Amino acid sequence: MGWTSTARVSPDGHSAPSSHRRLASTALRPRRATGRAGLRPGTDRVQLAARSATGAQLVTAPQDAAPQDPAPQDPARKFDASRAGEYEQQSRIALAGYEACHELAACMLAAALGPGRAARILVAGAGGGAREIVTAAALEPRWRFTAVDPSEPMLALAVARLKEKDLDERTEVLRGTVADLPEDEAFDAATLIGVLHHLAGDEAKRAILRDIARRLAPDAPLILAGNHQAYANQPLLLAAWGERWRQQGAGPDEVEAKRAKILQGADPPPSEQAVADLLREGGFGPPLRFFSSLFWGAWIARRAPDAP
Ligand SMILES: C[S@@+](CC[C@H](N)C(=O)[O-])C[C@H]1O[C@@H](n2cnc3c(N)ncnc32)[C@H](O)[C@@H]1O
Repeated sequence: MGWTSTARVSPDGHSAPSSHRRLASTALRPRRATGRAGLRPGTDRVQLAARSATGAQLVTAPQDAAPQDPAPQDPARKFDASRAGEYEQQSRIALAGYEACHELAACMLAAALGPGRAARILVAGAGGGAREIVTAAALEPRWRFTAVDPSEPMLALAVARLKEKDLDERTEVLRGTVADLPEDEAFDAATLIGVLHHLAGDEAKRAILRDIARRLAPDAPLILAGNHQAYANQPLLLAAWGERWRQQGAGPDEVEAKRAKILQGADPPPSEQAVADLLREGGFGPPLRFFSSLFWGAWIARRAPDAP
């Protein structure tokens, strides 16, 4: 990872600052010292950027300590402020059925876990509106969430939506990656929606899946969703995807720009079999697909007994 500024602040954590407050790295205490999960060391300074009176907080690096030199393909750089600003509208055009996918993801998790029970859900890549959390929380009032995302503007948007829905007390928000979470977590379930195809190369994809598997209870379900076709090999789907933008009001230049961006800007697993292979190598059993829309698919899989 190109940077390490991340931290968790719990609802019973530090007193709310009226303005930004810096915390020394010693504030990031290990699980046993705090009763809360410790985070990967390496944070020099963190800053409370947003905090509600009741609990959910975004902890993020100050500008001068923020990702200074992210790797060129750092997905956090891709999801910058301008992308975050248009995300909620554009994601619903780029993915026809965005809401349905999130609703069904919640239904699949509830079906897998058993409705009505308490559960802790890891939401990897929750930035951009925390739609997974908003949708699942409405279905299952006893679920609690840990939201992880390396992009500050995307995470800020998530925190805003969580606050609007009074979900801040049920959610911990961490700026960082799954690898920054302690490995002795045992979440009851996890989601990874819209993230995998933004990670370049198979190793990065396997790594995030392994990182999730390590933080799940045995047999816990994972919802995985994202694009899974080599775009250029599917000209009809690509053309239809362009038509979808036209249908939603984009002019020819904008459609062309969108097409160029998707072709260059992502690295999806090339097939459903490739998704299954990545899941197996990442520590999960065979996936069951429950949603599909052009290049997009959504699956549920369970942590394998022999997960690495
Ligand atoms: C397309 S958005 C999807 C957001 C949300 N899951 C949804 O369904 O709308 C992808 C998000 O993944 C985040 N991301 C990229 N790399 C990540 C990583 N290694 N771990 C967690 N999140 C990551 C990005 O910052 C971005 O906010």
